Amino acid sequence: MVSETKISLEQFKKLSRIVYKESGIVLNEQKYNLLVARLSKRMRLTKISSVSDYIQEISSNPDEFIEFIDATTTNHTFFFRENKHCEYIIKTLDNKKPLKIWSAASSSGEEAFSLAVQLLANSFLFNIYASDVSDSMLALGQRAIYPKEKIRAVPPSMLHTYFQRGKGKWKGHVRIKPEVQQHVKFEKFNLLSSTPFDTFDIIFCRNVMIYFDTPTRQKVVNTLCRALNPGGYFFVGMSESLTGLEHNLTTVLPSGYKKK
Ligand SMILES: C[S@@+](CC[C@H](N)C(=O)[O-])C[C@H]1O[C@@H](n2cnc3c(N)ncnc32)[C@H](O)[C@@H]1O
Repeated sequence: MVSETKISLEQFKKLSRIVYKESGIVLNEQKYNLLVARLSKRMRLTKISSVSDYIQEISSNPDEFIEFIDATTTNHTFFFRENKHCEYIIKTLDNKKPLKIWSAASSSGEEAFSLAVQLLANSFLFNIYASDVSDSMLALGQRAIYPKEKIRAVPPSMLHTYFQRGKGKWKGHVRIKPEVQQHVKFEKFNLLSSTPFDTFDIIFCRNVMIYFDTPTRQKVVNTLCRALNPGGYFFVGMSESLTGLEHNLTTVLPSGYKKK
C-alpha cells in the first residue's frame, strides 16, 4: 500500500522545499508522518505508485501541483473560533461607519461568516473579503454549506436567524442564508505575495503564521500592515503574537493590534 511507502530523506526535503516555496509552510522532520499521510492520499487518488513519479507529476502538471499544495495545508477551523476579537470590534467600533474587512487565510469561510452574522446582528455596514491559498477551501466557502460539528459554538438565536437547516441528503448540515453570503466575497490570495489587492479597516490573519518561519512571518506582516488603513485593526490567532517582528502596530488586546 502507498501509505506504507517510505519517503527517503532526500525526497522529503525536496517536497518540503516545494511546499515552503509555494506557501511558506515549514515542514520540518517532525512533520514527516504528516507529509507521508497527505502525499499517500494524493498518490492513491492519482494512481501513482512511486514517490519519484509523483514528484515528476507535480513538476509537470500544474493541476496536481495545486492539489498537492492544498493537501499539505492545515485547514482546521470552526464557527465562532476565538470570538473575543469579534466581540472587541462590536464593542469598540461605530456601526454607522462602513467597514472593509479581510479574512486572510480564511480556510473554508467559517471565520468570515462568523464575523458577518455578528456584524449583521449589530447593524454594522460592512464587506468581508475572504482569501486563502487553497482552491478547495475557497470552493467550500463559496458553497457555504457546513456540517453541524462546525457550528457547536454558535448561539441558538444566531443559528435561527442566519443559518438554514439542511434536509434530505443535506441532513446534518447547515447553509448560510443568502443575506449573509452577500457580504462575503471569496478570492484566492497567497500570503507570500507582496501585493495586497486592496486596503482594509480590519485584517484577520489567524492560525496560519504559526506554520511559517520568522522571515516569512515578517514578510507577511509587512504586506498586511501595508494593506491596513491608518487606525485599522489587525488580529492574529490567540496562540500567535507579533513578538520578535518589526511592525508599526500597538497592542489593544491579546493577539489584537491597532495601526497608529
Ligand atoms: C488553520 S486554517 C485557519 C483558518 C482561520 N483563519 C481560523 O483561524 O480558524 C489556515 C489556513 O491558512 C491557509 N494558508 C496556508 N498557507 C497560506 C498562504 N501562503 N497564503 C494564504 N493562505 C495560506 C491554509 O490553506 C488554511 O486554510
